[in-house]
Amino acid sequence: MRKIVIAGNWKMYKTQSEALEFLQGFTSQLSETPDDREIVLCVPFTDLSALSKNLHGGRVKLGAQNIHWEDSGAYTGEISGSMLTELGVRYVVVGHSERRQYFGETDATVNQRLLAAQGHGLTPILCVGETKQQRDAGETEAVIKAQLDKGLVAVDQANLVVAYEPIWAIGTGDTCASEEANRVIGVIRQQLTYPDASIQYGGSVKPGNIDEIMAQPEIDGALVGGASLEPDSFGRIVNYLV
Ligand code: PGA
Repeated sequence: MRKIVIAGNWKMYKTQSEALEFLQGFTSQLSETPDDREIVLCVPFTDLSALSKNLHGGRVKLGAQNIHWEDSGAYTGEISGSMLTELGVRYVVVGHSERRQYFGETDATVNQRLLAAQGHGLTPILCVGETKQQRDAGETEAVIKAQLDKGLVAVDQANLVVAYEPIWAIGTGDTCASEEANRVIGVIRQQLTYPDASIQYGGSVKPGNIDEIMAQPEIDGALVGGASLEPDSFGRIVNYLV
């Protein structure tokens, strides 16, 4: 049975006080949210502690945006799995295109982070996707296949979420057509050894397109950046209509 996972990715937005303010507005929107969907907030490290104390073990699960592969050590600026789990973190985004593009993340380091996350009992959200140039050159499938082949070495696919995030659709308002997202996600599923893994779509998901996206048979959820920053907007997204 494939799980539906709707995750907000706050990126480098929201101080601790802003995060708590968001939570107040957001939790009031969850009273009617169907039980069939897991709701996750992947937030900056500095927000984790305050959110964890205020989630009261409720509907919203906590996620982080990075994890190092070592348990501790001289790795300035990094964070370990035990630092996250102690704060109640359950999910962690790995291999987001912004980390691949700006911070030197490679398929090899992605693989190490995925293994570390699972070693700590966390569920990683592995992001894959092509650039506009790669899409135009007809390389979409090959790019994603390589990201999966190298990223997933020895990874337990039964404890994994994959997010298909076409890079040209991230933060651009230029959503991938839902049928095309569905098609690529179908291709991703064929490459997994555990076909029941949840596969999300991400890239300019908004209140206005979430219903259509979630109506697609292969799409098991969404990874939402900009539209997860406002309680009303993310509230509408998690309460998508079937
Ligand atoms: P976006 O970001 O929803 O703002 O396009 C998605 C993401 O980067 O995960």
